[in-house]
Amino acid sequence: MPETNDKPEFSRGLEGVIAAETKIGYVDGQAGRLVYRGYEISELAGKSNYEEVSYLLVNGHLPNEKEYRDYDRKLKELRTLKPDTYSLIKEIGKSAHPMSTLRTVVSYIGAKDSRTVEPNLDEQHDLGIELIAKMPTIVGAINRVYRGEEIVKPDHDLTYSDFFFHQAMGRKPSDVESKMLDTALILHADHGMNASTFACMLTISTLSDMYSAVTSAISALKGPLHGGANERALALIEKVGSPENADKVIGKMIENKEKIMGFGHRVYKVYDPRAKILKEYAHEVTSMNGKEELFHTANKIEEVMISKLGNKGIFPNVDFYSGMLYSSIGFSREVFTPIFAVGRISGWVARSLEYVRENRLFRPKALYSGTKELLKYVPINERD
Ligand code: SDX
Repeated sequence: MPETNDKPEFSRGLEGVIAAETKIGYVDGQAGRLVYRGYEISELAGKSNYEEVSYLLVNGHLPNEKEYRDYDRKLKELRTLKPDTYSLIKEIGKSAHPMSTLRTVVSYIGAKDSRTVEPNLDEQHDLGIELIAKMPTIVGAINRVYRGEEIVKPDHDLTYSDFFFHQAMGRKPSDVESKMLDTALILHADHGMNASTFACMLTISTLSDMYSAVTSAISALKGPLHGGANERALALIEKVGSPENADKVIGKMIENKEKIMGFGHRVYKVYDPRAKILKEYAHEVTSMNGKEELFHTANKIEEVMISKLGNKGIFPNVDFYSGMLYSSIGFSREVFTPIFAVGRISGWVARSLEYVRENRLFRPKALYSGTKELLKYVPINERD
């Protein structure tokens, strides 16, 4: 019998469907609120750091001093890559988009780790912490090689985000750059059951390993409707070129029913709280490096979009201003989404570990709308 012989509750893309229970955090789309384990994102972005937030997401509370020291030391111990991994990154070089390289490298490291064969819960946890530790090293090296620059020797005294900056840029960040990147990673760390987190959880629900689950997540994040929007949003801002052009260019795109990258959200129907914080940094850093025109153009695009589509709940999301920020720091545009992955790795790991501890294989149904009659097989030489 077709799968849907009982009453079909069909929601395309699982829109509005609650598919898991969590204590990790929530998104209030009407209030424009993002909360990690009870803390508002603005609190954490202003007062915490990425190591603390990563620990909070995975373990359920902010670390005390000993817990922090131990976690920080663990992340530093595990952040190194083996020579063959660097060789793989160099071999791929500029021949692939950095998100494809990231997906390949994470999969490669997992393939070489015997714990991924059939990991128990403790091994899944250890694999997850290792991935949190290694993501900045992998993405840093990808950024260097993609730009034709030498890979940077790891400096283990640096904080998580300063280490990432140093691996990617070959220099230590200024205080502003350090705070900016750390805040961006915090803002990207978790966001409910978004597509890439769902992909991660779905994969681990089959009791596959954490490396395979994160490879699924990276694959999902790559898409322009999800993490891939930040790269395209900056391209759009540069294409508009000046505040004076915004009305004409954006108006035409809306008329042609084109999706404007960096706007709209399945959950937020008001301004994305993360975009508010990233906008402030984008303003500051573009003023610092003489790119105010870029910021004013973005701001005008935002005004045009809100005036035309705000009544449909379409506002800037996390991807609209983040690219401007990363570009001002010096990241290649194609590495913007891998930066998103460096932030989100803690959410992917935290939610996958939480889910698999009370696991239930994800297996939704499909609404069958094919032929209802059973057909007889006809040999090929008798078919029309
Ligand atoms: C992220 O889920 C998460 O939490 C994701 C994320 C995270 O932290 O993990 O927040 C990160 O992925 C942010 C989103 C990045 N993507 C983009 O910026 C791509 C552009 N945005 C759109 O593709 C869209 O807004 C989505 C995909 C993000 C959400 O779309 P929905 O909920 O599926 O809404 P929809 O496509 O059904 O649109 C509803 C209406 C449509 O108009 P009508 O057919 O009703 O007339 O709104 C319109 C859409 O055309 N619309 C847009 C638009 N987004 C929606 N019109 C123009 N530009 C847009 N960006």
